[in-house]
Amino acid sequence: MDLNKRPEEMIRITTREQADEFIAYQIETVRNQVGDKNVLLALSGGVDSSVVAALLIKAIGKQLICVHVNHGLMRKGESEQVINVFGRQLDANLIYVDAEERFLSLLEGVFDPEQKRKIIGAEFIRVFDEEAAKLSNVSFLAQGTIYPDIIESKGVKAHHNVGGLPEDMQMELVEPLKLLYKDEVRVVGDALGLPREMVYRQPFPGPGLGVRCLGAITKDRLYALREADAILREEFDNAGLGGKVWQYFIAVPDIKSVGVREGKRYDGWAAIIRAVNTTDAMTATVEEIPYSLLHKITARITAEVEGINRVLYDLTPKPVGTIEWE
Ligand code: XMP
Repeated sequence: MDLNKRPEEMIRITTREQADEFIAYQIETVRNQVGDKNVLLALSGGVDSSVVAALLIKAIGKQLICVHVNHGLMRKGESEQVINVFGRQLDANLIYVDAEERFLSLLEGVFDPEQKRKIIGAEFIRVFDEEAAKLSNVSFLAQGTIYPDIIESKGVKAHHNVGGLPEDMQMELVEPLKLLYKDEVRVVGDALGLPREMVYRQPFPGPGLGVRCLGAITKDRLYALREADAILREEFDNAGLGGKVWQYFIAVPDIKSVGVREGKRYDGWAAIIRAVNTTDAMTATVEEIPYSLLHKITARITAEVEGINRVLYDLTPKPVGTIEWE
């Protein structure tokens, strides 16, 4: 039997009862698999790793060791949420690594997008490895692999598994979600009591804001991007677009334009809004955001974010523009 193939008779999990049944079954399976050994998990705060973490905390409690690497390229409040939900509410065995300075110094002056991705991916593995080396009695590595990852693993998205882990890691894998589709993972996450904003989070690339702070990343532009993005997310939530639009974010290019603020010349960057809908991310259409909302977001970003003096809306579908700018 191919354990990486979803059996035809497997029902699609859509209800709380089905999710509870799945959770109970996985708890048993995981306990049998790991015994009294420890399990390591890279917890990014994304949907899949969060659901795996919550499930394993239920199954094996403190035998699960979660490592959250903050690469400094997270969105506003994300690392704090991981610490809050997993460290405090679920009382997980959580190691938090503040690696912002390490990542940003390696990325200094690097403007090529693929080079940036490589640096971020490789450094992520290095940091994670260092943490793993400090631990003992760890025999298992948990991963938030889901069924589409298995289907796509040999396809076009090979470059997307930044945040993936070293191949030579001598640990057996624990992958309780590997036969589930994304919508099922969310139903399971709900049943496990994770916060809605975590379970219904929009996709976020492994290299994070690193590929949205266009060109060579600087701290001041990265902070401006993070603040502007937080405003966009807040206003989308207020307008009821939060759960409706597939992916939306800000990108900040590495050029300044002339502006004026309080009667004085104010050179600044542009914040580019991207808001797209898609089913598989291979093609995408642009959301028709009401003008009134665009004006509101523009007013807030230009008033509240240091360094930004213009707001633009990207109207390009994919193709020809990819979803991310880099
Ligand atoms: P593009 O820009 O290729 O994006 O149209 C399609 C989807 O993939 C996400 N994306 C990434 N995800 N690592 C990831 O984990 C990456 O390097 C990466 N690049 C793009 C993007 O956010 C969109 O959802």
